[in-house]
Amino acid sequence: LLHRDIFPVMKNAEVFQDCISLLTEHVEHLTTPVDAIVGLDARGFIFGPLMAQRLNIPFIPVRKAGKLPGETIKYSYQLEYGSDTFEIQKSAVHCRQRVVIVDDLLATGGTMKAAAMLLKSLGAEVVECMVVIELTSLKGRDKVPAPLYSMIQYH
Ligand code: PRP
Ligand code: MG
Repeated sequence: LLHRDIFPVMKNAEVFQDCISLLTEHVEHLTTPVDAIVGLDARGFIFGPLMAQRLNIPFIPVRKAGKLPGETIKYSYQLEYGSDTFEIQKSAVHCRQRVVIVDDLLATGGTMKAAAMLLKSLGAEVVECMVVIELTSLKGRDKVPAPLYSMIQYH
């Protein structure tokens, strides 16, 4: 699998700011008001908190398993090589909270699907899943059980 890397975006402050602005403006233009931004460990943490700050709404982390205290729920998913498990605190979201999930990249879609399933199982409404880059040929968006927005698409 070709490696699409998002780190060059952050080497240029203006490019990084524009990227956060585009993502934030997209959320502002959604017809459903959004209560919180959910970011996915690890690279979703680069974009999610900055968006939440601009939007003046909470940031909620979904972490790789074994990192969060308190009562949690887990969801395991397949990766290109092997598998991984996501975990979220039960107290992190409340029922019917309207959230947008953010990650850097959509490849096979397994990661985003796992995150959306976790949030839905806690009763949250997943208004949209957002990624900076979508690798369209892998058809990951077909797996995601919510509307998917990507800023940049590569075949
Ligand atoms: C990468 C990337 C996405 C995921 C996309 O994360 O940051 O989260 O893969 O792949 P998928 O659509 O096929 O599931 P990775 O698990 O490599 O870890 P990291 O974010 O912790 O660096
Ligand atoms: Mg990731």
